[in-house]
Amino acid sequence: MRTQVGIVGAGPAGLLLSHLLHLDGIDSVVVESRSRQEIEATIRAGVLEQGTVDLLKQTGVGARMEREGFVHQGIYLRFGGASHRIDFPSLTGGRAIMVYAQHEVIKDLVAARLDAGGKILFAVKDAAVYDLDTNAPKVRFHHAGRVEELECDFIAGCDGFHGITRPSIPSRARREFTRVYPFGWFGILVEAPPSTDELIYAHHDRGFALVSTRSPQIQRLYLQCDPEDEVKNWPDSRIWEELHARLENAQGWRLAEGRVFQKSVIAMRSYVVEPMRYGRLFLAGDAAHIVPPTGAKGLNLAAADVRVLSRALASFYRGDEQPLKDYSATALRRVWRAEHFSWWMTSLLHRFHDETPFHHRLQLAELDYVVSSRTKAQTLAENYVGLPLD
Ligand code: FAD
Ligand code: DHB
Repeated sequence: MRTQVGIVGAGPAGLLLSHLLHLDGIDSVVVESRSRQEIEATIRAGVLEQGTVDLLKQTGVGARMEREGFVHQGIYLRFGGASHRIDFPSLTGGRAIMVYAQHEVIKDLVAARLDAGGKILFAVKDAAVYDLDTNAPKVRFHHAGRVEELECDFIAGCDGFHGITRPSIPSRARREFTRVYPFGWFGILVEAPPSTDELIYAHHDRGFALVSTRSPQIQRLYLQCDPEDEVKNWPDSRIWEELHARLENAQGWRLAEGRVFQKSVIAMRSYVVEPMRYGRLFLAGDAAHIVPPTGAKGLNLAAADVRVLSRALASFYRGDEQPLKDYSATALRRVWRAEHFSWWMTSLLHRFHDETPFHHRLQLAELDYVVSSRTKAQTLAENYVGLPLD
């Protein structure tokens, strides 16, 4: 098998890259270790930045998102018994966000690729990448009982944090930056009506909580938990007790309960590898960097990476190699901005088990500043809706 760009991983990064390359007339093959059913059912992120929304719309994969997603013009920060709204359009020159689940984006991208005759190989085993420092890098894998070799001009490592492409870069050729947080998120999906018109990010003595949504019937809620915690430790009664305690305040707001039908524990980590390239292997999305979910940046960063990469590859095939040489530096600039924002939102809103009373007072002072200074609110808003892609 031969293709121009071999893509490892059919997450948002890999699928969107394949779609964007196709629009530029560049051939790709995506190899994915899971089944189509699995990738289309995995529950993850839910917030799309303005730039991600625009990109999906402009490239013809935004129709269902426009019908079924929810445009939100702001978020609430809740602390000290009161709620404070951050209004995005007035702080960012008219920008907003879209709440539309990651697995719905995946479904739309898979459908668009297959409709256009694109090649996605699902359920491949033992993928490995070779000859990265030559002009003919290769992906080898097992598929449908056979060993296959895919010869490429370039390989895109879009296989997420636990994938095989990043570790294929010799350790002397990469540098890693990591921070692990002393807490995780307990996430649930609930059959209930919405309790709020916009997302609520709550800082509370008992820990952080977040109210998000998926549809008028299904709500997405998160609460700060121990990173080693397990689903079995959280019967529904304990989840509701904790959510009520962290979210309800004197203003009479009440959280609507419902049937909990999905529970999971999400670890929190900041991570970046530099550079995001080795020879003819280019990393994009979670394969190259992870952010804690508090700023809702993970999926959006993956989209921003592959937009830069697809343009750079298109330039290469038109005879200009410079954008490809610049790929890592261009992508890392946005990555580090998002790393800072996600770290800042996480540090602002969570309780740290080892914090001193001094540190806690600083957190409260910072929260107060965010909701009382237009400049500080603007900083939050412009990062949350996402900096322009260009
Ligand atoms: P992924 O979505 O991880 O896609 C990688 C793909 O590669 C997967 O389909 C995987 O099966 C495939 N793959 C892996 N290894 C191989 C291999 N060896 N061979 C072939 N294929 C392989 N972000 C938020 O903003 N908010 C959230 O609430 C949030 N929740 C999250 C919950 C979880 C459990 C996780 C893991 C992430 C969450 N994120 C969240 C982050 C966000 O979902 C990611 O940033 C986003 O999925 C990145 O997209 P990606 O395409 O780079 O990687
Ligand atoms: C969702 C996830 C996030 O990480 C976030 O910051 C906001 C919303 C969500 O899954 O809806």
